Amino acid sequence: MAAVPKTTEIFKENIFAGKVVLCSGGGSGICYTMTEAMVQHGAKAVIISRSLEKLEKAAAKMRSATGGQVLAVAADVRKPADVENAVKKSIEAFGRIDFLINGAAGNFLAPFEKMSYNAFKTVHEIDVQGTFNLTKAASEHLKASKGSIINVSATLYYTGLPFQSHAGSAKAAVDALTKHWAVELGPFGVRVNGISPGPVGDTEGMSRLGKLRKAGETESRIPLGRQGVTMDIAQSCVFLFSDAAAWITGHTLVVDGGAWMNTSFVDYPSAVLSPPTSRL
Ligand code: COA
Repeated sequence: MAAVPKTTEIFKENIFAGKVVLCSGGGSGICYTMTEAMVQHGAKAVIISRSLEKLEKAAAKMRSATGGQVLAVAADVRKPADVENAVKKSIEAFGRIDFLINGAAGNFLAPFEKMSYNAFKTVHEIDVQGTFNLTKAASEHLKASKGSIINVSATLYYTGLPFQSHAGSAKAAVDALTKHWAVELGPFGVRVNGISPGPVGDTEGMSRLGKLRKAGETESRIPLGRQGVTMDIAQSCVFLFSDAAAWITGHTLVVDGGAWMNTSFVDYPSAVLSPPTSRL
């Protein structure tokens, strides 16, 4: 597999100089790489999640990889006081917030009848209420900077994937928030978009959700022939926050190698690469 280029190989360095990005779930996985890419291009960053110990390690790693400024603030996005404190700390440290990434999410595989009432509620509280809480807390600062928001979503609900009704329905609501807020915040110069990553290897999400698949099965179902890497998502993050996307709002960009669209009943991809010569 050809290496996925780094964002600095495609976008100009320092396009986000003087800007500040606040990211929930930024201590690991996809959101870590999204945030690191923003810092690589000159932004200062605040990463938040529940465990300060893990966050501090992530912040130190990001600082040493980029030479940039990164602040770690412990916050549970379900708690309004926590997110308000995270916003306050961001302003105290860096004076502004230009970009918000709502990345904190919960997920696991569970048939809905076997899931506890609290399990369903917990995922909705993290994904939907958490996205609302942090955005509400940061909105005045985003308006002041004419900033931009990315809500991290998922394609789970496009096809009704089994055992994912809690997360899929939560992400459907997140996509709705993206559209509502794009309309409400557009007149203030704030753009609101989403990114829906497909299967990205080496993440907490895939280690939990890929369990039901055999080795190689995920790749064989993806039209572009490979799982994603976190840099694939960072590329889209930098694009959507950059001025190249200045007229894009309310859009959720699917970044999945075409994965969700493949509902093929034939042996894919061999049937596509060697199609039958006679009429089916
Ligand atoms: N299967 C079924 N139910 C589960 C579960 C699982 N794998 N993990 C948690 N739950 C249930 C718990 O049993 C609990 O319900 P109960 O009180 O009725 O027993 C409820 O969910 C809350 O779990 P708890 O561990 O108390 O909550 P928490 O606040 O620590 O949050 C999650 C747990 C949901 C965040 C965590 O399980 C999780 O999903 N972490 C992974 C995050 C992740 O993968 N992010 C990437 C998203 S793609």
